[in-house]
Amino acid sequence: MGNQIKLGVIGDPIDHSMSPLIHAQFAEALGLKINYKPFHVVERDLDEFIESFFAEGGYGLNITLPHKLNCVRSANILSSEVELLGAANTLSKNSNNEIIASSTDGLGFIRDCSDKNIEISNKRVLILGAGGASQSIIPAIARMNPTKLMIDNRSPDKTEHLVTKFSSLGLQPFQHDNEPIDLLINATSAALSGSFNWNIQNQLNEETIFYDLSYGKASVKFFSWASQFSKNRFDGTGMLIAQAAFSFQLWFDTFPDISNIKLSNTDD
Ligand code: ATR
Repeated sequence: MGNQIKLGVIGDPIDHSMSPLIHAQFAEALGLKINYKPFHVVERDLDEFIESFFAEGGYGLNITLPHKLNCVRSANILSSEVELLGAANTLSKNSNNEIIASSTDGLGFIRDCSDKNIEISNKRVLILGAGGASQSIIPAIARMNPTKLMIDNRSPDKTEHLVTKFSSLGLQPFQHDNEPIDLLINATSAALSGSFNWNIQNQLNEETIFYDLSYGKASVKFFSWASQFSKNRFDGTGMLIAQAAFSFQLWFDTFPDISNIKLSNTDD
């Protein structure tokens, strides 16, 4: 065990994280000996956990809910994406033992779109939801130069907040018109609390691509709503694997093979 590279993911809850399984497969394919563990960390223990993890030889951490915002204060260096977002999902250490915070969600989303031939450049993109998941992909999508990048949220005050935060990226509040949406991204957790519905029918059609940032069972209600319009439906499994691969690349300077990753319990 002693010579294994110590990695992990922290969250609250953490039981359902797929990250240990994904990183184990990346490492195995490359012959790297890693020990990647899930750690249940509550908010009050966050700073101390991160400090001791790295002080005791930890090599890298993934950060999941609810710590993506608050982990940033433990870092000495922030990537430009983290500066913009105020949130991170990956911590690594440099040769001076400084902790670097990065965010790979946006890159993971773009990579999965590219793997699935989902075009963003010159397309009309609407993101539903204005929480952490939504924010994490906005800068990366904006860099792909969509014709229009719009956001809609149940609570309008959060839409306004994000439009102001990302005004330099051209993010606009959604306004009903008659132009079809090319790519509709569900970044809400609405399906967890009941059926999914969004009042934008007149701008959806069989060409619209529906992408859910969640995956497995959590996508069922969004998919069944989307199925009345289009067969082009994707869940967030590909993004999950790709964001993990970009974290792995930050730690090991190698982008792992993501084409054959097996996920069990994806429906949890
Ligand atoms: P995450 O980190 O997964 O993004 P979050 O920050 O709690 O989680 O954000 C959840 C998002 O889902 C929010 O945009 C929330 O809308 P509000 O800002 O109005 O709360 C959205 N959401 C959750 N339940 C919803 C529902 N039943 N209908 C519509 N939107 C919902």
